[in-house]
Amino acid sequence: MSGVKIGVFDSGLGGLSVVRALFSVNPDASIIYFADTAHVPYGDRPGEQVRGFALGIIDYLLAEGAGAILMACNMSSAVALDDARRIHPDIPVIGVIQAGARAAARLSQHKIAVLATAGTVASGGYLRAIAAEAPSVQVIQTGCPQFVPLIESGQLTGPRVEDAVKECLQPGLDAGAKVFVLGCTHYPFLVPCMRELCPPDTAFVDPAEEAVREILAQTGDQIDERSPSRFVLSAPSETFRPVGSRFLGQALPELEIVPWAPGDLKLSPARGSQLAAL
Ligand code: DGL
Repeated sequence: MSGVKIGVFDSGLGGLSVVRALFSVNPDASIIYFADTAHVPYGDRPGEQVRGFALGIIDYLLAEGAGAILMACNMSSAVALDDARRIHPDIPVIGVIQAGARAAARLSQHKIAVLATAGTVASGGYLRAIAAEAPSVQVIQTGCPQFVPLIESGQLTGPRVEDAVKECLQPGLDAGAKVFVLGCTHYPFLVPCMRELCPPDTAFVDPAEEAVREILAQTGDQIDERSPSRFVLSAPSETFRPVGSRFLGQALPELEIVPWAPGDLKLSPARGSQLAAL
């Protein structure tokens, strides 16, 4: 492995919370970030469909030169990680769910609340992953369907956001949980609002830190630190660049648009890469 670029993907802006964690450890890491803006949100879609998107995106990222894959998406990690590892046995493929379960189990062996999209909740991915780490722990899962649309539009504060956050925290708080797993990569951007609405001893687990540790452990000093990072979307978005730059804490470069082939789960490097000044 030499000059390894990391392919990172999500349905939209959420994976930038994972990129933020990666850049905080290695600001020079070269990534190709893919946001499937043609299909966001993933969390309301059937698992089988998201699995197809995720595997298609991985094919694209590898064709573009990625040598390791970081699935910065819980829904994809829930439905596509095993298949991706089976199909690509020679490259590191890291998801976020096992990472989140491990980090949460270090903080509580008693009660763990998981906030996630409907699809991730339905997949049972966190239930299995937490049970593997801490078999006797009680897991309180709450689906938070309002969060992704709010975050995609850049809304992190205000009464609508607070109402949605209160509603989603309540089941975990009622059960007495002190540890909340952010089971969707969009959710770390709501942590400041969540902190306001929770007792001060509440811990929020962002699986990104553990997942980043894992991918860096597997790519080590082979990581490409010279090539500029690229950010690719499957459909134009007027908000991605300004909101994403705010979320990432640094200006995003020009975005590339690579559309899906009609009726096919394929992204064609040859067809795409038209630069979009968004
Ligand atoms: N951010 C993704 C996740 O972690 C997907 C959210 C969505 O598009 O519903 O699950």
